[in-house]
Amino acid sequence: MQMIRAIVRPEKVDSVVDSLDAKGFSAFTRIDVFGRGKQKGIRIGPTVYDELAKVMLMIAANDEDIDEIVGIVEESAKTGSFGDGKIFVNSIDEACTIRTGERGL
Ligand SMILES: Nc1ncnc2c1ncn2[C@@H]1O[C@H](COP(=O)(O)OP(=O)(O)OP(=O)(O)O)[C@@H](O)[C@H]1O
Ligand SMILES: [Mg+2]
Repeated sequence: MQMIRAIVRPEKVDSVVDSLDAKGFSAFTRIDVFGRGKQKGIRIGPTVYDELAKVMLMIAANDEDIDEIVGIVEESAKTGSFGDGKIFVNSIDEACTIRTGERGL
C-alpha cells in the first residue's frame, strides 16, 4: 500500500477527482494548503505572493494501482505552466476500516 499526496491547483481539483472516479478510484482526502515550489511564489505587479493556495489530495492505494493513479493525476491536473503541482508517494504500513476492523484498503 502507498499514500499518494498530490498537491494541485484548486481549479483543477474537480477535474482530478472526476478523472480518478471514472477509473474506479473514488476515495480521497482533501486538504486546502498553502505552499511554494522552486520559483518561491509569484510576483503580480508590485505584489509578491510568497505562498500560493493549493489543494492536497491524499489517496491511499494498492501498489499495483499507483502508476495508473499518478498518471491520471498528472494528466488531469496539468496546464503546462509553472505551479501545476507535485506528487509524492510513500509506503503505508497499515490501513484499517473502523466499521469492520478489516485490515487493508
Ligand atoms: N519540494 C517540495 N516539498 C514540499 N512541497 C512542495 C515542494 N515543491 C512543491 N511543493 C508544493 O507543491 C506546490 C506546487 O509546486 P510547483 O508546482 O510550483 O512545483 P515546482 O517544483 O516549482 O514546479 P514548476 O517548476 O512546474 O512550478 C507548492 O505550492 C508546494 O505546496
Ligand atoms: Mg513552481
